[in-house]
Amino acid sequence: LRKLSDFLLLLVGHIEMFERCQWARTMKSYGMDGYWGISLANWMCLTYSESSYNTMAVNHNRDKSTDYGIFQINSRWWCNDTRIRTANGCHIMCEQLLSDNVDVAISCAKRVVRDPQGIAAWVGWRTHCKNQDVSKYLDGCGLDSSFL
Ligand SMILES: *[C@@H]1O[C@H](CO)[C@@H](O)[C@H](O)[C@H]1NC(C)=O
Repeated sequence: LRKLSDFLLLLVGHIEMFERCQWARTMKSYGMDGYWGISLANWMCLTYSESSYNTMAVNHNRDKSTDYGIFQINSRWWCNDTRIRTANGCHIMCEQLLSDNVDVAISCAKRVVRDPQGIAAWVGWRTHCKNQDVSKYLDGCGLDSSFL
């Protein structure tokens, strides 16, 4: 029994880690390492703090807007969910951000970061990543970030 539980713990740990590094590799393949001067480790910290790397994350805000997907992109400014008035800066329906195919989510995150606020648009980044050592998000992934 003890051996079985050790095995299960190992398995769970492995899966969590596999997903983290898988996401890091995916973002890297989309040119996110250094995009707009933001390191891959910072994008990892941002997406972990916003959604725990969950592409299906949906969170409602007090102002009636909603945050969608792995980057928690906001419906008032960036996407259209037909529930509130939106500037729809990414010209997309919000549900397109809830997909394992992350093409749309990554394009929209790139658009968001090009705004004057930059990466500080994400509260999760300001709260958990800004001025922190974020290198741990790439630990063991075999990805050497070219940007610090
Ligand atoms: C949002 O989507 C609805 C339904 O397709 C459409 O009628 C509306 O014009 C869209 N709004 C914006 C700002 O894109």
